[in-house]
Amino acid sequence: MKFFTAIPKTRLLVTLFASLFALLSLNVSSAEEDKRVLVKMPDMMRDHQLANMRDHLKALNEILMNMGEGKLDKAAEIAEARLGMSSLSLHGASHIAKVIPKEMGAIGTSMHKAASRFALKAQEGDPLPAYKALQEVTAACVNCHASFKTR
Ligand code: HEC
Repeated sequence: MKFFTAIPKTRLLVTLFASLFALLSLNVSSAEEDKRVLVKMPDMMRDHQLANMRDHLKALNEILMNMGEGKLDKAAEIAEARLGMSSLSLHGASHIAKVIPKEMGAIGTSMHKAASRFALKAQEGDPLPAYKALQEVTAACVNCHASFKTR
């Protein structure tokens, strides 16, 4: 008790606000800091890749819609054709592989493999393990987006 009354109230308040402010600004600066590696590629290739990306998200949305309706076979079909190993030529993977860092390519491959694994799981007909397998696909999206940018 004696200790607290010994510190002037205003000083205590100032210290409190100063620490709060420091904490907040720390948070803001870490959110703004962009540590992603910039991968340069020809404009046409980048536009093509971004169009593929938009289709990835569209495919994911269609997969979730079919999963929710219990149409696991349809979800599997979309995943294999648009995100899975069968989609590699569709995405011009062999061209893009030449201009991107190895690590980025590896994450891409892990996404295609995860999508094919999901397709197999979904075909087994049990939704829960299928959802679990689908999360391995989205983990690859998150992983790559956290590490690389093209513009
Ligand atoms: C191997 C790396 C990689 C993987 C895997 C990946 N992306 Fe991307 N994606 C990128 C990069 C790089 C960009 C461009 C980001 C930038 O430059 O700002 C991008 C951009 C996007 C965009 C924005 C497109 C636009 O027109 O601006 C969407 C949507 C997207 N990704 C969805 C997905 C989804 C969904 C998945 C997973 C199913 C996925 N991506 C997997 C690398 C990846």
